[in-house]
Amino acid sequence: MALLDLAAAPGPARWRTDPAQYWRAIDQAVSERDGPVTVVELSALRANIADLRTRAAAGVRGESGPAPAAAPIRLASKSIRVRGVIDAALAVPGFAGVLAYDVAEAHWLAADRPDRPGIADVLLGYPSADREAIARLLGDEVAAARVSLLVDSPAHLDLIDAAAPPADRPPVRVAIDLDASWRHRLLGHIGVRRSPVHSVGDAVALAETILARPGFRLVGAMSYEAQVAGVGNRAPGAPLRNLLISQIQHRSMRELRERRGATVAALRGLAELEFVNAGGTGSVEATAADPAVTDIAAGSGLFGGHLFDTYRHFRPAPAAAFGLSVVRKPAADLAACHGGGWIASGPPAADRLPKPVWPFGLEYLPREAAGEVQTPLRGPAAAGLAVGDRVWFRHAKSGELAEHANTVLLVDDGVVVGELPTYRGEGRCFL
Ligand SMILES: Cc1ncc(COP(=O)(O)O)c(C=O)c1O
Repeated sequence: MALLDLAAAPGPARWRTDPAQYWRAIDQAVSERDGPVTVVELSALRANIADLRTRAAAGVRGESGPAPAAAPIRLASKSIRVRGVIDAALAVPGFAGVLAYDVAEAHWLAADRPDRPGIADVLLGYPSADREAIARLLGDEVAAARVSLLVDSPAHLDLIDAAAPPADRPPVRVAIDLDASWRHRLLGHIGVRRSPVHSVGDAVALAETILARPGFRLVGAMSYEAQVAGVGNRAPGAPLRNLLISQIQHRSMRELRERRGATVAALRGLAELEFVNAGGTGSVEATAADPAVTDIAAGSGLFGGHLFDTYRHFRPAPAAAFGLSVVRKPAADLAACHGGGWIASGPPAADRLPKPVWPFGLEYLPREAAGEVQTPLRGPAAAGLAVGDRVWFRHAKSGELAEHANTVLLVDDGVVVGELPTYRGEGRCFL
């Protein structure tokens, strides 16, 4: 299939102006396909892609005078997991490079194939202890020159050396993971638990270790402010919590901007950094406002998983969805679909369940929720559903959806215009 054009004008925002029409059009477009069926709606995807660029530009808009160009967006592949969509998004102006989630995946993305060139700039967003995959990557000079591995301790350097001794490999491109969490006197640790490299001194010490060891090139830094990028500040029915979260996010970004700026300046005094990656879908404008950052990570904002409905400053279009077929009627006012699960990772709670979105007015039975093989639903629309009808759901996250399907159908203006394999459909199961 030719490369998708994701830079084209998105068309009318039916998901907002006429959601019934939006879902009905998707439903009708794939009515000949048996479920489960996974769909990406191209108007919505294009609108999401354009919105990420607009938000990045809004972040750098100065008080006066012309704004500098916004940093490009680096695609967080874990939140997409469809190679054709990654390749097509990289062709859109303002998008460059991938933030991969596994070393074997990073290698696969960067490697050339006769029918598909490799991606030239792949940053692994997490350290790896997969010696075999590291050795395979470093045995492939073309891919090794395109992939940067992430480290936060000398133990990661030791592991790379154990996988491929410095004398037998090309220099390894490494980036330092700078902890972006906020350490508050009273609130404690705000953010995720990942890198121990928190202070300027921590970063300088690790950089000096890297520079002193043979076989490594320090090429960049990464710093993911999860407490801003991944926490909604407009959750329904929780105004006080939302206010508190917004305040914390604002204060934490202020602290981070100073610390990250000083850390990056110190690192730049030691090595020529090619990039400083930061942020995520929820923080695009705040991260873009940090002058130390050279590219902004985002992935979930493309497909728009429903967890991203809970942010005040943006609202992604529901570009990805899956349809399950009704296979039986346990009672006149119930409908049971074939298929279940599709539950998102993270702290187990109701917000991790897929959201039934079409027909309107369907809900889970509390004792069964999203089932395993079967998902019973109730609610005003359930009585009208017959065997063979379809129910549409949105996944809470974005890339995890692709782990349940071999392909995604591309729907544009109510018509199926293509079909792309997911990572799973290409036989790729990384994590
Ligand atoms: C290292 C890192 N960067 C960026 C992101 C942001 O990804 P997304 O835009 O999909 O929320 C994540 C998400 O967890 C991440 O782990």
